[in-house]
Amino acid sequence: MKFFVDTANLDQITEAGELGVLDGVTTNPSLMAKEGISGEANIRAHYKAICDIVDGDVSAEVISTDFEGMIREGSSLVEIDDQIVVKVPMIKDGVKALRWFTDNGIRTNCTLVFSAGQAILAAKAGATYLSPFIGRIDDINWDGLELIGQIAEIYAVQGFTTEILAASIRNPLHIVRAAELGADVCTCPLNSILGLLNHPLTDIGLEKFLADHKKANG
Ligand code: G3P
Repeated sequence: MKFFVDTANLDQITEAGELGVLDGVTTNPSLMAKEGISGEANIRAHYKAICDIVDGDVSAEVISTDFEGMIREGSSLVEIDDQIVVKVPMIKDGVKALRWFTDNGIRTNCTLVFSAGQAILAAKAGATYLSPFIGRIDDINWDGLELIGQIAEIYAVQGFTTEILAASIRNPLHIVRAAELGADVCTCPLNSILGLLNHPLTDIGLEKFLADHKKANG
């Protein structure tokens, strides 16, 4: 399973990269706005800065909601760097755009996916990645992880090659369960990745090893 970090914060991307387990980055308009990045030139420069930090795919989302606009924006975004993957919303024109990008050799990430039906459409349109939003489904009292399992089963049975990119991850357990259920990628906030490190027995065990070493060696 690949690990992406879900942020536009350059320090967090650097920190995740230094851990040595990072395979890419996903961003969205909210994450870019959170970093105070606005204006086309600044946005493009920021994507370039992200690509320079990470050695892997970097998802950059289109703002347009019509087919022509998405094609125009996506075609321009991929000129920033070879690492750019065009993030396209799961709407009717988005599906048409996914097909166009696929036919023109441009890699895509279909975002805002909340159902198996949407996952089938995106795969049929040739999406490179599919982003089901686990946390936002949990937020409305449904089961986001169940959707990951359902899509994994459908894609395996049907032989779809679109990679399942579990998104809207809110905690380390989401990562572990998504991995178990067959997600190809997890995109996570840095905190959730670092949360995987935590176990009290590791802390207690390390403290004892160091204490015993000190006793024996002075
Ligand atoms: O990649 C999509 C993700 O950023 C959404 O996460 O926590 O805003 O639902 P969240």
